[in-house]
Amino acid sequence: MTETILVRSARLADGTSVDILVKDGVIAELGAVTASAERVIDAAGLLALPGLIDLHTHLREPGFEQSETVLTGSRAAAIGGFTAVHAMANTSPVSDTAGVVEQVKSLGDAAGYVTVRPIGAVTVGLEGAQLAEIGAMANSRAKVRVFSDDGKCVSDALLMRRALEYVATFGGVIAQHSQEPRLTEGAQMNEGTLSGQLGLAGWPAVAEEAIIARDVLLAQHVGARLHVCHLSTAGSVEVVRWAKARGIDVTAEVTPHHLLLTEQLVGGYDSRYKVNPPLRRDEDVQAVRAGLADGTIDIVATDHAPHPVEAKECEWEAAAFGMVGLESALSVVQASVVDTGMLDWADVARVFSRVPARIGQLAGYDRGIAVGAPAEFTLYNPDASRVFDTGQLRGKGVNSPYLSTTLPGQVVATIHGGYATVLDGELIDVETIARHAGAANHG
Ligand code: DOR
Repeated sequence: MTETILVRSARLADGTSVDILVKDGVIAELGAVTASAERVIDAAGLLALPGLIDLHTHLREPGFEQSETVLTGSRAAAIGGFTAVHAMANTSPVSDTAGVVEQVKSLGDAAGYVTVRPIGAVTVGLEGAQLAEIGAMANSRAKVRVFSDDGKCVSDALLMRRALEYVATFGGVIAQHSQEPRLTEGAQMNEGTLSGQLGLAGWPAVAEEAIIARDVLLAQHVGARLHVCHLSTAGSVEVVRWAKARGIDVTAEVTPHHLLLTEQLVGGYDSRYKVNPPLRRDEDVQAVRAGLADGTIDIVATDHAPHPVEAKECEWEAAAFGMVGLESALSVVQASVVDTGMLDWADVARVFSRVPARIGQLAGYDRGIAVGAPAEFTLYNPDASRVFDTGQLRGKGVNSPYLSTTLPGQVVATIHGGYATVLDGELIDVETIARHAGAANHG
């Protein structure tokens, strides 16, 4: 059940002002629209961006519903301006069979706030010993194209080679969590002077860079596509830059938190800043920003990682790794790379929507805001500013590193599947969305 929606006077990323007519789930007209519509949204002063697409979201269902569910994570995504998310495989049971990925897809379809694309595990149980049923997941109703053991590295070089070879046969991609396990045993934060001062075991940059270097060479050797998850160091940017210069088929992502925050925050032992890979040095933050600006890093992805309060509100060494990120992502991207003059809004549309759509093979979603394209977009007020607090979170996790800080921008509306999921900065209720989604899924 789609709506006809007329958005009046929105500003596109290229600066032009247009009306947008949404009909039957697609963008029917763009320009000066005279038609009437069931719903009219006044978008004067608002930026229209193609719906954000996250290639790296932990939705936690099945198995860890105390942390997040597909529904609550989808709501967090919609309020953040997302219209599609890719759900990571570290669930319980692990998303390593056709049955589990189909379950995740069905839960996403039923929730209806965003398109949920399951990511399949590379190895059985994320154990790094035996390849998962990659072909069965690819051929399932969930049509999985991205495979990852995220949270863990596929550290065995032969298994990584075989996984790359396998996905190359159907145009899939392996998204690697690049972390050499032996070099990071017991690691708690970035390795350097500060980890020494704080007495915390270090996670050295070389543990990330060595795996990326190995994997780009493997990808080249077997002629496969590699995606690097949450790249975090200046050296990693150099390795990916080198690989791309040699024509190797690699893409890379950076998280909003690695674009904004540094290891200095760990000094207070506040576990909201505990994340894997860890927050790095200021030089690394500058390098990942520059890498995103020059195209070495292809996309931004959140690594939204909700945890229950008891898993985070404990001493640093016992706390879980991870931060929630969906609700704050666009504001953090604005603060770190737009307001600093490194990216413009057309770049943001590219790195946070069009290219992630291409990597995830979400048909049609890479067209942006264009006549005939799926009606997937967000209306954003970049001139707003807000003190970010738990009242702005819609997922179950409150482990945000931005609480009590002022962030720029505000998502005002999100349109997904031809209907509004967010209006006036607030989510549309669960029942209305389920009704829209049910109609869309069944005819
Ligand atoms: O901080 C993290 N949390 N990094 C990961 O790689 C996994 C994630 C999680 O699942 O909590």
